[in-house]
Amino acid sequence: MNKRNPRVLVFDSGVGGFSVAACIHRALPGAELLYVADNAGFPYGDQPEQVVIDRCCSLIEACVQQTPCDVIVIACNTASTIVLPYLRARTEIPVVGVVPAIKPASQCTLNRKIGVLATPATVKRPYLDKLIRDFASNCEVVRLGDPNLVRWAEELVSGQEPNQHQLNEAMRPFQQRGVDTVVLGCTHYPLLLQWFRESLPDVAFWVDSGEAIARRVEYLLKNAGRMLPSDVPGELSGGVVGAACFSGPAPAGIERFLEGMGMPVADVKSNWPGLK
Ligand code: DGL
Repeated sequence: MNKRNPRVLVFDSGVGGFSVAACIHRALPGAELLYVADNAGFPYGDQPEQVVIDRCCSLIEACVQQTPCDVIVIACNTASTIVLPYLRARTEIPVVGVVPAIKPASQCTLNRKIGVLATPATVKRPYLDKLIRDFASNCEVVRLGDPNLVRWAEELVSGQEPNQHQLNEAMRPFQQRGVDTVVLGCTHYPLLLQWFRESLPDVAFWVDSGEAIARRVEYLLKNAGRMLPSDVPGELSGGVVGAACFSGPAPAGIERFLEGMGMPVADVKSNWPGLK
Protein backbone atom coordinates (compact mmCIF):
# COMPACT_ATOMS: atom_id res chain seq x y z
CA MET A 1 0.00 0.00 0.00
CA ASN A 2 1.26 3.40 -0.92
CA LYS A 3 1.86 5.38 2.26
CA ARG A 4 2.15 8.92 1.01
CA ASN A 5 -0.81 11.17 0.27
CA PRO A 6 -1.59 11.94 -3.36
CA ARG A 7 0.82 14.46 -4.81
CA VAL A 8 -0.16 16.85 -7.59
CA LEU A 9 2.41 18.84 -9.55
CA VAL A 10 1.02 22.25 -10.52
CA PHE A 11 3.01 24.10 -13.18
CA ASP A 12 2.86 27.69 -14.44
CA SER A 13 5.16 30.42 -15.69
CA GLY A 14 4.56 32.37 -12.48
CA VAL A 15 2.13 32.64 -9.59
CA GLY A 16 -1.07 32.37 -11.67
CA GLY A 17 -1.21 28.60 -11.23
CA PHE A 18 -1.88 29.17 -7.53
CA SER A 19 -5.43 30.16 -8.54
CA VAL A 20 -5.82 26.60 -9.86
CA ALA A 21 -3.93 25.10 -6.90
CA ALA A 22 -6.44 26.80 -4.58
CA CYS A 23 -9.34 25.04 -6.35
CA ILE A 24 -7.53 21.69 -6.11
CA HIS A 25 -6.85 22.31 -2.44
CA ARG A 26 -10.54 23.08 -1.77
CA ALA A 27 -11.63 19.87 -3.53
CA LEU A 28 -8.82 17.66 -2.20
CA PRO A 29 -7.58 19.16 1.06
CA GLY A 30 -5.28 16.26 1.88
CA ALA A 31 -3.46 16.20 -1.45
CA GLU A 32 0.07 17.56 -1.35
CA LEU A 33 0.70 20.21 -3.96
CA LEU A 34 4.11 20.59 -5.53
CA TYR A 35 4.26 23.92 -7.33
CA VAL A 36 6.74 24.57 -10.12
CA ALA A 37 6.98 28.03 -11.71
CA ASP A 38 9.20 28.83 -14.66
CA ASN A 39 9.43 32.46 -13.64
CA ALA A 40 12.85 32.77 -15.31
CA GLY A 41 10.90 32.29 -18.57
CA PHE A 42 8.01 34.57 -17.56
CA PRO A 43 5.92 35.78 -19.31
CA TYR A 44 5.11 32.83 -21.58
CA GLY A 45 2.68 35.10 -23.41
CA ASP A 46 5.65 36.87 -25.02
CA GLN A 47 7.71 33.73 -25.78
CA PRO A 48 8.02 31.77 -29.05
CA GLU A 49 6.07 28.49 -28.97
CA GLN A 50 9.12 26.20 -29.15
CA VAL A 51 10.73 27.94 -26.17
CA VAL A 52 7.61 27.34 -24.08
CA ILE A 53 7.40 23.68 -25.14
CA ASP A 54 11.08 23.01 -24.35
CA ARG A 55 11.14 24.81 -21.02
CA CYS A 56 7.92 23.29 -19.81
CA CYS A 57 8.85 19.72 -20.73
CA SER A 58 12.38 19.86 -19.34
CA LEU A 59 11.41 21.47 -16.03
CA ILE A 60 8.55 19.05 -15.41
CA GLU A 61 10.65 16.02 -16.34
CA ALA A 62 13.39 17.11 -13.94
CA CYS A 63 10.84 17.64 -11.22
CA VAL A 64 9.06 14.29 -11.46
CA GLN A 65 12.39 12.49 -11.56
CA GLN A 66 13.22 13.99 -8.17
CA THR A 67 9.76 13.85 -6.64
CA PRO A 68 7.16 11.28 -7.69
CA CYS A 69 3.81 12.82 -8.58
CA ASP A 70 0.43 11.27 -9.38
CA VAL A 71 -0.97 13.95 -11.66
CA ILE A 72 0.62 16.86 -13.53
CA VAL A 73 -1.46 20.01 -14.01
CA ILE A 74 -0.30 22.55 -16.58
CA ALA A 75 -1.98 25.46 -14.81
CA CYS A 76 -1.21 27.83 -17.65
CA ASN A 77 -3.45 28.44 -20.64
CA THR A 78 -0.59 29.82 -22.72
CA ALA A 79 1.43 26.62 -22.27
CA SER A 80 -1.51 24.20 -22.39
CA THR A 81 -2.66 25.41 -25.81
CA ILE A 82 0.62 24.10 -27.31
CA VAL A 83 2.50 21.81 -24.92
CA LEU A 84 0.09 19.02 -23.97
CA PRO A 85 0.76 16.52 -26.80
CA TYR A 86 4.55 16.87 -26.35
CA LEU A 87 4.46 16.40 -22.60
CA ARG A 88 2.02 13.47 -22.76
CA ALA A 89 4.35 11.73 -25.20
CA ARG A 90 7.19 12.04 -22.66
CA THR A 91 5.56 10.85 -19.43
CA GLU A 92 3.31 8.11 -18.13
CA ILE A 93 1.85 10.42 -15.50
CA PRO A 94 -1.60 11.79 -16.39
CA VAL A 95 -1.40 15.39 -17.57
CA VAL A 96 -4.26 17.86 -17.15
CA GLY A 97 -4.23 21.09 -19.11
CA VAL A 98 -6.19 24.28 -18.71
CA VAL A 99 -7.71 26.00 -21.71
CA PRO A 100 -10.05 29.00 -21.90
CA ALA A 101 -13.54 28.06 -20.66
CA ILE A 102 -15.38 28.98 -23.86
CA LYS A 103 -17.93 26.18 -23.62
CA PRO A 104 -19.14 27.02 -20.08
CA ALA A 105 -19.19 30.71 -21.02
CA SER A 106 -21.41 30.02 -24.03
CA GLN A 107 -23.81 28.23 -21.66
CA CYS A 108 -23.92 31.23 -19.28
CA THR A 109 -24.22 34.23 -21.56
CA LEU A 110 -27.68 35.75 -21.92
CA ASN A 111 -26.91 38.35 -24.57
CA ARG A 112 -24.49 36.13 -26.52
CA LYS A 113 -21.61 38.53 -26.08
CA ILE A 114 -18.54 36.94 -24.54
CA GLY A 115 -15.22 38.57 -23.66
CA VAL A 116 -12.10 36.41 -23.66
CA LEU A 117 -9.32 37.75 -21.49
CA ALA A 118 -6.05 35.94 -22.14
CA THR A 119 -2.36 36.51 -22.82
CA PRO A 120 -1.23 38.03 -26.16
CA ALA A 121 -0.18 34.51 -27.24
CA THR A 122 -3.38 32.69 -26.25
CA VAL A 123 -5.72 35.16 -27.99
CA LYS A 124 -3.95 34.40 -31.31
CA ARG A 125 -3.71 30.61 -31.00
CA PRO A 126 -5.56 28.29 -33.42
CA TYR A 127 -6.58 26.33 -30.31
CA LEU A 128 -8.73 29.27 -29.23
CA ASP A 129 -10.15 29.70 -32.75
CA LYS A 130 -11.27 26.09 -32.65
CA LEU A 131 -12.84 26.37 -29.18
CA ILE A 132 -14.83 29.40 -30.37
CA ARG A 133 -15.88 27.63 -33.60
CA ASP A 134 -16.93 24.50 -31.72
CA PHE A 135 -18.74 26.04 -28.77
CA ALA A 136 -19.53 29.70 -29.35
CA SER A 137 -20.22 30.07 -33.07
CA ASN A 138 -23.57 31.70 -32.22
CA CYS A 139 -21.91 34.34 -30.00
CA GLU A 140 -20.00 37.53 -30.56
CA VAL A 141 -16.60 36.90 -29.00
CA VAL A 142 -14.33 39.83 -28.12
CA ARG A 143 -10.68 38.88 -27.45
CA LEU A 144 -8.38 40.92 -25.26
CA GLY A 145 -4.69 40.06 -24.86
CA ASP A 146 -3.25 42.80 -22.68
CA PRO A 147 0.38 42.09 -21.71
CA ASN A 148 0.18 44.15 -18.50
CA LEU A 149 -2.33 41.97 -16.70
CA VAL A 150 -0.01 39.09 -15.84
CA ARG A 151 2.55 41.53 -14.48
CA TRP A 152 -0.04 43.21 -12.28
CA ALA A 153 -1.05 39.80 -10.95
CA GLU A 154 2.59 38.96 -10.15
CA GLU A 155 2.97 42.24 -8.25
CA LEU A 156 0.18 41.23 -5.89
CA VAL A 157 2.59 38.78 -4.24
CA SER A 158 4.65 41.65 -2.86
CA GLY A 159 1.48 43.49 -1.78
CA GLN A 160 1.29 45.90 -4.73
CA GLU A 161 -2.29 46.32 -5.94
CA PRO A 162 -3.13 47.17 -9.57
CA ASN A 163 -4.00 50.72 -10.54
CA GLN A 164 -7.79 50.66 -11.01
CA HIS A 165 -7.73 53.47 -13.55
CA GLN A 166 -5.21 51.66 -15.78
CA LEU A 167 -7.18 48.46 -15.43
CA ASN A 168 -10.41 50.25 -16.42
CA GLU A 169 -8.65 51.48 -19.56
CA ALA A 170 -7.53 47.95 -20.37
CA MET A 171 -11.11 46.65 -19.98
CA ARG A 172 -12.68 49.33 -22.19
CA PRO A 173 -13.22 47.08 -25.27
CA PHE A 174 -15.41 44.76 -23.19
CA GLN A 175 -17.36 47.68 -21.80
CA GLN A 176 -17.87 49.17 -25.28
CA ARG A 177 -19.14 45.90 -26.72
CA GLY A 178 -21.42 45.16 -23.75
CA VAL A 179 -20.23 41.63 -22.98
CA ASP A 180 -22.19 39.97 -20.16
CA THR A 181 -19.74 37.09 -19.68
CA VAL A 182 -15.95 37.13 -19.41
CA VAL A 183 -13.68 34.12 -19.72
CA LEU A 184 -10.59 34.40 -17.54
CA GLY A 185 -8.35 32.63 -20.07
CA CYS A 186 -5.13 32.99 -18.10
CA THR A 187 -4.64 31.49 -14.66
CA HIS A 188 -3.18 34.75 -13.35
CA TYR A 189 -6.48 36.54 -13.87
CA PRO A 190 -8.64 35.04 -11.08
CA LEU A 191 -6.13 36.74 -8.75
CA LEU A 192 -7.28 40.09 -10.18
CA LEU A 193 -11.01 39.32 -10.08
CA GLN A 194 -11.99 41.98 -7.53
CA TRP A 195 -10.46 44.71 -9.73
CA PHE A 196 -12.08 43.29 -12.88
CA ARG A 197 -15.48 43.33 -11.15
CA GLU A 198 -14.95 46.92 -10.10
CA SER A 199 -14.11 47.80 -13.67
CA LEU A 200 -17.02 45.96 -15.32
CA PRO A 201 -19.94 45.93 -12.87
CA ASP A 202 -22.41 44.94 -15.62
CA VAL A 203 -20.67 41.66 -16.36
CA ALA A 204 -22.86 38.91 -14.91
CA PHE A 205 -20.61 35.87 -15.34
CA TRP A 206 -16.87 35.49 -14.75
CA VAL A 207 -15.77 32.06 -15.91
CA ASP A 208 -12.49 30.27 -15.26
CA SER A 209 -11.38 26.66 -15.41
CA GLY A 210 -10.08 26.10 -11.85
CA GLU A 211 -12.96 24.03 -10.50
CA ALA A 212 -13.22 21.88 -13.62
CA ILE A 213 -9.49 21.15 -13.31
CA ALA A 214 -9.92 20.16 -9.67
CA ARG A 215 -12.72 17.72 -10.60
CA ARG A 216 -10.55 16.20 -13.31
CA VAL A 217 -7.65 15.76 -10.87
CA GLU A 218 -9.96 14.06 -8.38
CA TYR A 219 -11.23 11.71 -11.08
CA LEU A 220 -7.70 10.79 -12.19
CA LEU A 221 -6.53 10.11 -8.63
CA LYS A 222 -9.53 7.85 -8.01
CA ASN A 223 -9.03 6.14 -11.32
CA ALA A 224 -5.36 5.46 -10.51
CA GLY A 225 -6.40 3.91 -7.21
CA ARG A 226 -4.62 6.60 -5.23
CA MET A 227 -5.98 7.03 -1.73
CA LEU A 228 -8.00 10.16 -1.36
CA PRO A 229 -7.42 12.59 1.46
CA SER A 230 -10.68 11.60 3.14
CA ASP A 231 -9.46 7.99 3.27
CA VAL A 232 -6.18 8.56 5.05
CA PRO A 233 -5.03 10.45 8.08
CA GLY A 234 -3.01 13.53 7.07
CA GLU A 235 0.59 12.53 6.65
CA LEU A 236 1.91 15.75 5.24
CA SER A 237 5.09 16.76 6.95
CA GLY A 238 4.93 20.39 5.95
CA GLY A 239 2.35 22.77 4.51
CA VAL A 240 -0.39 22.24 1.98
CA VAL A 241 2.06 23.26 -0.72
CA GLY A 242 4.91 20.85 0.02
CA ALA A 243 7.30 22.96 -2.02
CA ALA A 244 7.12 25.91 -4.39
CA CYS A 245 10.04 25.77 -6.83
CA PHE A 246 10.91 28.79 -8.97
CA SER A 247 13.31 28.58 -11.92
CA GLY A 248 14.33 32.18 -11.15
CA PRO A 249 14.39 33.98 -7.80
CA ALA A 250 11.33 33.22 -5.64
CA PRO A 251 9.08 36.30 -5.47
CA ALA A 252 9.47 38.32 -2.28
CA GLY A 253 6.46 37.80 -0.03
CA ILE A 254 5.44 34.44 -1.48
CA GLU A 255 5.03 32.74 1.93
CA ARG A 256 2.67 35.42 3.21
CA PHE A 257 0.78 35.49 -0.09
CA LEU A 258 0.14 31.73 0.07
CA GLU A 259 -0.76 31.89 3.72
CA GLY A 260 -3.36 34.49 2.74
CA MET A 261 -4.76 32.10 0.12
CA GLY A 262 -5.09 29.38 2.76
CA MET A 263 -2.22 27.36 1.32
CA PRO A 264 0.81 27.50 3.60
CA VAL A 265 4.03 26.44 1.92
CA ALA A 266 6.60 24.19 3.59
CA ASP A 267 9.57 24.98 1.39
CA VAL A 268 10.39 27.66 -1.21
CA LYS A 269 13.22 27.11 -3.67
CA SER A 270 14.82 29.68 -5.96
CA ASN A 271 16.77 29.05 -9.19
CA TRP A 272 15.37 25.55 -9.43
CA PRO A 273 16.72 23.26 -10.87
CA GLY A 274 19.31 25.57 -12.32
CA LEU A 275 17.27 26.60 -15.36
CA LYS A 276 17.56 30.36 -15.77
N1 DGL B 1 -0.72 31.87 -16.15
C1 DGL B 1 -0.36 31.84 -17.55
C2 DGL B 1 -1.57 31.54 -18.42
O1 DGL B 1 -2.52 30.99 -17.92
C3 DGL B 1 0.43 32.96 -17.90
C4 DGL B 1 1.00 33.62 -18.64
C5 DGL B 1 2.28 34.15 -19.08
O2 DGL B 1 3.31 33.71 -18.57
O3 DGL B 1 2.24 34.98 -20.00
O4 DGL B 1 -1.61 31.79 -19.58
